[in-house]
Amino acid sequence: MNAKLSPAPANGDLDAFWMPFTANRQFKANPRLLARAEGMYYWTAEGREVLDGVAGLWCVNAGHGRREITEAVTKQLGTMEYAPAFQMGHPIAFELANRLAKIAPPGLDRIFFTNSGSESVDTALKIAVAYHRARGAGQRTRFIGREKGYHGVGFGGMSVGGMVNNRKIFGSSMLPGVDHLPHTLDIEHNAFSRALPQWGAHLANELERLIALHDASTIAAVIVEPIAGSAGVVLPPIGYLKRLREICDRHDILLIFDEVITGFGRVGKPFASQAFDVTPDLMTTAKGLTNGAIPMGAVFAHRKIYDSLMQGPENAIELFHGYTYSAHPVACAAALATLEVYTKEGLLTRAASLASEWENAVHSLRGLPHVLDVRNYGLIGAVELEPRAGKPGTRGFEVFLECFERGVMVRQTGDTIAMSPPLIIESKQIARIVETLGAALRQTA
Ligand SMILES: Cc1ncc(COP(=O)(O)O)c(C=O)c1O
Repeated sequence: MNAKLSPAPANGDLDAFWMPFTANRQFKANPRLLARAEGMYYWTAEGREVLDGVAGLWCVNAGHGRREITEAVTKQLGTMEYAPAFQMGHPIAFELANRLAKIAPPGLDRIFFTNSGSESVDTALKIAVAYHRARGAGQRTRFIGREKGYHGVGFGGMSVGGMVNNRKIFGSSMLPGVDHLPHTLDIEHNAFSRALPQWGAHLANELERLIALHDASTIAAVIVEPIAGSAGVVLPPIGYLKRLREICDRHDILLIFDEVITGFGRVGKPFASQAFDVTPDLMTTAKGLTNGAIPMGAVFAHRKIYDSLMQGPENAIELFHGYTYSAHPVACAAALATLEVYTKEGLLTRAASLASEWENAVHSLRGLPHVLDVRNYGLIGAVELEPRAGKPGTRGFEVFLECFERGVMVRQTGDTIAMSPPLIIESKQIARIVETLGAALRQTA
């Protein structure tokens, strides 16, 4: 309970919560507790203001404490707090799906609701297999992911993902029949590229090699993040995604874009697929869908996929898949209000108008101690630091801590510092994030 924890928690009070993706013992010895949020800022339990440089966890795209979302959620809780979506429906679920279909990439206008990015990924993988089976290609069950990919923590998403620490202790529990493309991070060729790197489109040709190895007739889908976030911001080289699309088309393999972090305006268009002009067959989303206010995810499926599954007797369930909280009414209300805010304030495209200012700001960190690379796209930025010999990640963690002490929240993955602020950010806040990170870099040995 925050009341108990604030302002100086006794360590004993922190024991019961097994924190996710956290160094529990280190954190509990020296906790960082956020107690309140509004606009671009958090306030700690001690009352210290912290500028949010990561939109919570890449999700609070419209900034914190949006009254419109709070009111919509409150109203929905007062009207109908829950209704099932299995063999029943409620109006705002359909309204939300229709609204999402209007901003979707061309053809991806059939929407399946989940509660998180991980569930969206596992749902998309299952839909891909079901689609091929419905077309008489039930042997197409393999998936191709990519090194450094992050697709959440379900068994499906973990298996197609390519972050070693997320996988290594679960080795024998992985989905069978998964292979991985090489990642596209190449500091030697592309360090300090502004926006998309020039070098590396040919890395997509590795897909041809994997297809030759496994045979296209066994492969259901390729899944990639258009921009990988969790692994420390890995950008697609110019032409890379188009080439993946062409190869998938040639071999009748579905292409899945995981847009859990790139969706809802992060890259200056509603989705990265539109920014890069490459349309996948399935697209996974979550996070910005509800501005982080209520958990929700959505899989956007191409109409051809939906139609091919609408077979058999009309009283038969076409896809044996779904969650108790799929299309939860309160989440639907939050998402509708969020989309309204995004539309009214132009937030689905605002990152495009800030992109060059952001790019110049983050690239001003070039030349500071330990900086090996700076990467940016839309309102995403990353600074990669040289790891300390034998102690990878320690420098990154210290820089993250130093920023937090100085009143700016960034995200650390290993020795990479990532930034993805709310899309309402103003120039003075961009300057403050970068000045603070610069000061932290100068301070850190
Ligand atoms: C690309 C991508 N996919 C999936 C996920 C998993 O989402 P969740 O944590 O909501 O399950 C994330 C989370 O960061 C992500 O970045």
